[in-house]
Amino acid sequence: MENALKAGSVLSAGNRRVIVTTELLPQTAARHIAKAIEQAIADHGRASVMLAGGSTPRAVYRQLALNPRLPWDKVEIFFGDERGVPPADPQSNYRMARESLFDAVPIPPDQVHRLLAERPDRDAAAEEYARQLPERLDLIILGIGEDGHTASLFPGSSALKESVRKVLAVVGPQAPLHRLTVTPPVIAAAREKIILVSGAGKAGAVAQALEGPDQPIQSPAQLARDGIWIMDRAAASVLRHQPPR
Ligand code: 6PG
Repeated sequence: MENALKAGSVLSAGNRRVIVTTELLPQTAARHIAKAIEQAIADHGRASVMLAGGSTPRAVYRQLALNPRLPWDKVEIFFGDERGVPPADPQSNYRMARESLFDAVPIPPDQVHRLLAERPDRDAAAEEYARQLPERLDLIILGIGEDGHTASLFPGSSALKESVRKVLAVVGPQAPLHRLTVTPPVIAAAREKIILVSGAGKAGAVAQALEGPDQPIQSPAQLARDGIWIMDRAAASVLRHQPPR
């Protein structure tokens, strides 16, 4: 963290709002993720980590893969959402994580729990995945869309009202339309949440999520409001309460 501070990052009170240059975001986020993994292993011998999809995490996972200290044999990997495409598809969140992380670290393959969203019976796939999830994840990593979605929980979705089932098949407004996603109870139960945000296009959604009225149906990323938000300056540029520089 000290290095990041020297290099111009800005922390808010409690280090829950970390604003860095775009160049520093991957290594700053990787440092926070590694710290959460190490903490979980210190606490109870293992770390259950749920990954975000999309494009922002790719550089973060690549940085995480460079950390020589992480005991990957003690890490279980899950996915917060997946598109209804095969795992080799360029739009697959699993493929992005495999290329940027799993291919570069010694994690036992049976500890990577892929979300089988390409299965024709997505409801069955959702139920089977839910049974694999721990009661509480040690860490969930999330992104945010320009519309404020997180995982594949999109504004106005009925999935945002789900209070029992952990995984649902949804049809989103963004291609690929058919997806599987974890639900609000899974996000709420996570011991730690880290949200990765880059780019001016997200600034409005970030401000709504962190400073707007409490309306998670309109701003699903508010489900992770209490997490550690690691943002570049463009993504944080509309926040009213900027941490002291
Ligand atoms: C997905 C992601 C999604 C993502 C946001 C941000 O499958 O699309 O899980 O929730 O985190 O859309 O995506 P970018 O990082 O590509 O902006």
